[in-house]
Amino acid sequence: MKYTDIKETEDQFQVATYKKMGIAVERGRGAWVWTSEGEKYLDLYGGHAVCATGHSHPHVVKAIQDQAEKVLFYSNLVYSEIRAKAAERLVSIAPKSLNKVFFCNSGTEANENAMRMARMATGREKIVTFTGGFHGRTADSISATFLGKYREIGKPNVPGHVSAEFGDIESVKAVADSDTAAIMLEPIQSMAGVREASPQFFRELRELCDELGIMLIFDEVQTGIGRTGNWFFAASELADLVEPDIISLAKSLGSGVPVGACLVNEKVSAVISVNDLGTTFGGGMLAMAAVVATLEAIENDEMLRSAASAEKQLREGLNGVSGIKAIHGKGCLIGIEFEDKCAPVHAKLLENKIITGTSSDPNVLRLLPPLCVSTEEMDIFVAAVKRIVTASNAIAG
Ligand SMILES: Cc1ncc(COP(=O)(O)O)c(C=O)c1O
Repeated sequence: MKYTDIKETEDQFQVATYKKMGIAVERGRGAWVWTSEGEKYLDLYGGHAVCATGHSHPHVVKAIQDQAEKVLFYSNLVYSEIRAKAAERLVSIAPKSLNKVFFCNSGTEANENAMRMARMATGREKIVTFTGGFHGRTADSISATFLGKYREIGKPNVPGHVSAEFGDIESVKAVADSDTAAIMLEPIQSMAGVREASPQFFRELRELCDELGIMLIFDEVQTGIGRTGNWFFAASELADLVEPDIISLAKSLGSGVPVGACLVNEKVSAVISVNDLGTTFGGGMLAMAAVVATLEAIENDEMLRSAASAEKQLREGLNGVSGIKAIHGKGCLIGIEFEDKCAPVHAKLLENKIITGTSSDPNVLRLLPPLCVSTEEMDIFVAAVKRIVTASNAIAG
């Protein structure tokens, strides 16, 4: 099918969701996708922050093919070797105290279950989250999302959600108390424009949680599985300071096969009994094969290292470029803050066949490339940004 026919058919038969780019993706490999018209695009948005191992990594594809030949699915009503391997492997890379996993299907579902487990572990209901944080679109997660219109869209909201200011411990102290079940946060607020907080903030959060018996949840749906150049944000240089009680995961975890997870410590797992949690599809064999192969591919191809060097290259390459105010983020989660709105740069990059993302901050362009993005690929982006910025300065001048 040609692009115009694909677009017309999708627009006619699919409920509107996202504002789509004007391309139809047909195949992908590494950091590249090819369209229905045979054009090649550099994908620095990584399939919506999902394709950490790159598009259709051969090791992941083979593992999925092999698993599909054996058995596509059976639920947690039976044991499964590939599920056992996925659970063991995921726990082996997690911060030390997080020694059990609950598998589900998406980021929002991971957060719903994280909050539920925190309520069960504490016998309390209140959840503290942060302005600018995004946690998903199902009832409890959207009620925890104090960003833009989301809570409005999610009405009626689940009761018991309150917000604090990201990075401001005093604002947390003003709302967190002995009725609070959990404090949940994106350790780097991605959609808000890749906003970061200080190590001291994380340390004080942990202390406050310990003092008041509150569960600390890191929503690592975006920052997890190598995105920041470490397996988890919670396993970065902050690890000595802060271990959360629960980490929620999705996006990169299955390289594109839908899968989510909550990693939990013993304080949490000890209160969960059979029938408290469940999901038909969570832990299915196909998804588990994707998880194992994703973790193997990241390890085999040394992608934690390449994610870290991509950040370094980008910071050096864009240093001093006029019109760029700051670079935020870590590894392959990068926000480029422009002095003006980034929408024209985003559009021009797409014209130059480079896919990037925007954010809820109109000045911040977001990059979430595959962790295996190469030096040459990042060079293409840096050169394009310089060209676009120079051309627009010339017009403005
Ligand atoms: C930090 C964060 N948490 C949760 C979610 C929700 O994940 P999903 O869309 O898989 O439900 C997202 C999605 O963008 C996210 O970025």
